[in-house]
Amino acid sequence: MYLVTFSHWLVAALFAQWAWACSPRSDINDQNNPFVIGDDGPAPAATLGFAINHFGLLTTNLTGMKHFYGDILGMRLLFDAHLTPEYTVTYMGYSQGGRNGTGFQSGAEMTRDKNNLYGLLELVQFNVSDDRLVGSTKRTNTFGHVGLIVADVEKAQTYLESRGVEILKRIKEPLSGFTGSIQNAFGVGEFAGEHIAAKMALLKAQSLIGMEMFLMVQDPDGNLVEIQQQDAPSSS
Ligand SMILES: *[C@@H]1O[C@H](CO)[C@@H](O)[C@H](O)[C@H]1NC(C)=O
Ligand SMILES: *[C@@H]1O[C@H](CO)[C@@H](O)[C@H](O)[C@H]1NC(C)=O
Ligand SMILES: *[C@@H]1O[C@H](CO)[C@@H](O)[C@H](O)[C@H]1NC(C)=O
Repeated sequence: MYLVTFSHWLVAALFAQWAWACSPRSDINDQNNPFVIGDDGPAPAATLGFAINHFGLLTTNLTGMKHFYGDILGMRLLFDAHLTPEYTVTYMGYSQGGRNGTGFQSGAEMTRDKNNLYGLLELVQFNVSDDRLVGSTKRTNTFGHVGLIVADVEKAQTYLESRGVEILKRIKEPLSGFTGSIQNAFGVGEFAGEHIAAKMALLKAQSLIGMEMFLMVQDPDGNLVEIQQQDAPSSS
């Protein structure tokens, strides 16, 4: 059980880790290298053109989520689809290109190109549900985090603080402790059980993927948003 969540965590980190300072490397003689680089052959021909286009989050406060991902994080609204008076499907995403290279695309343009875009966010709200939805920092579940890449993570931190975003971990701070919001979202917090030795080992290992330099914030529903810098800071 633990191994499964741990490897899941590594995989998630590896995905987002691609362009980091300690970039994944395949030196199998280095005992401190946690990365095992994939050697998959070509994908099945039938999957040619498959791509991850969007992922979906359920919300009980669509207004709050649109404000966070849109007004603050800068995603643009593609559309709200009001299927019924109570049920709304919303698509958001970053402008990807734009005619003059400034990244500007209108909602109409992005909606037109929706099925040719990547990394979109779908927000779904059933506005009469009695269910209590629990974000990944509040309760470990199979959703982990949203991962963003920014040009300058320090500037992003200053900006997000100025916008009142709740910072869970600042850059240059390692994770400490066995409980907490980030630990929950990575599947190693209080819900994972005691397992002190295993958790201790993980805390010691976190620098292998550059965890200290990840900025961690949460969205209004309590889902973890992990923010990494595109290119390694010059100091490291
Ligand atoms: C939804 O989020 C907004 C902030 O964008 C907040 O003002 C409002 O109180 C929230 N609504 C509920 C029901 O929590
Ligand atoms: C790019 O296009 C957008 C939308 O038309 C416009 O707002 C922006 O000023 C343009 N930027 C440049 C550098 O031309
Ligand atoms: C959800 O329902 C509340 C209360 O009925 C209403 O104020 C709010 O505008 C609704 N939100 C959406 C996105 O429909």
